[in-house]
Amino acid sequence: MSSNVLLDCQAVNTRFGSLHVLKDVSFDIRPGETVGLVGESGSGKTTIGRAILGIGPVTSGRIVFKGVDIAGQSPRERKGDATRIQAVFQDPYTSLNPSMTVEDCLVEPMVARGIAGLQEARGRVRALLDQVALPADAAQRFPREFSGGQRQRVAIARALALSPKLIVCDEPVSALDLSTQARVLELFIDLQQRTGVAYLFISHDLAVVRHLAHRVAVMRAGGIVEFGDCDQVTARPSHPYTQRLLLAAPVADPVRQAERRAQFKSLVAGV
Ligand SMILES: Nc1ncnc2c1ncn2[C@@H]1O[C@H](COP(=O)(O)OP(=O)(O)OP(=O)(O)O)[C@@H](O)[C@H]1O
Ligand SMILES: [Mg+2]
Repeated sequence: MSSNVLLDCQAVNTRFGSLHVLKDVSFDIRPGETVGLVGESGSGKTTIGRAILGIGPVTSGRIVFKGVDIAGQSPRERKGDATRIQAVFQDPYTSLNPSMTVEDCLVEPMVARGIAGLQEARGRVRALLDQVALPADAAQRFPREFSGGQRQRVAIARALALSPKLIVCDEPVSALDLSTQARVLELFIDLQQRTGVAYLFISHDLAVVRHLAHRVAVMRAGGIVEFGDCDQVTARPSHPYTQRLLLAAPVADPVRQAERRAQFKSLVAGV
């Protein structure tokens, strides 16, 4: 394995009964890199994300993290940095307990993993809130008291509490309005520059992924149909499916949008 690879998915297959959901999925993520994972609904994006997190099944294949195959291991069975792989989901309540204050939401993973005592963990809360640009007084409030964008910032702070090398972000901005999306995406970029964390950034929206991904993997019906540099994939997609995905992505400029709709129609007719 090259030392320049953080995570290497090698021919990962997942079946749910007779349903073959992941088909030889292979891609890698380098340290500090963002790999965007795009594809239509049901293509298997969440399934590979969950497999990497150790919360979803792997039928065959390897998921090599820092040289160790972690496929099929739960987070508890993992060792070293693999125990710290974190997730940010579309719904922040997936990781935030609504009955806990923000402080307790941030302290809990540090104490549960034994990486800090209670006092020390509490001492880190302010810096974590600061990292996600939330005010210090957010600590004593409850998740429901925040806007959707702020609540997602709390979920990001919680993921950061364990100083992960990799965060799986599954549609983390899809529930937010456009201007909030842009600010949260800037936060992801800023945190990566400051901490060197790598992201697997899952989205059905190629426009979002384009904004922050270094490389992009395109999934269709359980397989990766294209994987390469973001500029390359989005400017000169080699697979017809990616071309259609690109043309279906919304464009701010209505004139270009109309042009692209026309292009899209002719392409669909031609495929
Ligand atoms: N636990 C499960 N049991 C059975 N089938 C499942 C299970 N989890 C996922 N699937 C199936 O696997 C396929 C891929 O689902 P997945 O959630 O990975 O898609 P996705 O690309 O994340 O879609 P979306 O963009 O809608 O989130 C779907 O057909 C789904 O119904
Ligand atoms: Mg999904």
